[in-house]
Amino acid sequence: MNRLWTFALIGALAASAGATEKKEKGGAPESSTASSDLYPNDFGPAELDVSEYPKAIREGYKLTVFKCAACHTAARPLNSQFLELTKEEEEQFKKDNPDVYKDKRLVHIEDQIWKRYVKRMMSKPGCPVKGDDGKKIWQFLAHDSKSRKTGKNAGEWAAHRKKLLDDFKKNHKDAYQRLFPKE
Ligand code: HEC
Repeated sequence: MNRLWTFALIGALAASAGATEKKEKGGAPESSTASSDLYPNDFGPAELDVSEYPKAIREGYKLTVFKCAACHTAARPLNSQFLELTKEEEEQFKKDNPDVYKDKRLVHIEDQIWKRYVKRMMSKPGCPVKGDDGKKIWQFLAHDSKSRKTGKNAGEWAAHRKKLLDDFKKNHKDAYQRLFPKE
């Protein structure tokens, strides 16, 4: 086994141990707040086909799937509205996709947004992401969101995200209103 897979296996074992522990604890407050803590993102796929991505980016993907799944599943970052673009790239997106651009629930565009969010997650107590892994995860999320949410894929992304939002609004009304109070 190469190093990455050994590491991946340890990550998976740790994650399943964590899951069992959570289940055994049961009762309030964790289980009673769980539903209101959900995001529409959580109901999308927690895995992606990254075979077309460059090698370094694929490494960041593996880290995301194993390490960003300690508190929520990897579906949360993978189906997020966050889209990291420079100001010029944002202008282009706005021109190409004016309707999608208007709705921040579909795409929330900001320069360095993934960098900021990875840092925010790393500062949470118990986060297993340390040091250089944070940078690799950030680079994967920035690359991946640009690749799946812009250009010829913008429409498909918007439809995917809209479906997650519509289902979430129907099935988790309170959580939806907490996340999007103005909608
Ligand atoms: C220690 C627990 C923990 C770990 C590990 C963790 N998260 Fe989170 N994550 C949370 C919590 C709690 C929230 C709810 C919002 C908040 O507190 O920021 C959240 C929310 C999110 C959101 C939704 C933010 C929004 O406002 O739409 C994204 C995206 C996210 N996490 C990505 C990640 C990524 C990427 C990683 C790995 C670098 C990660 N998380 C690792 C606890 C964690």
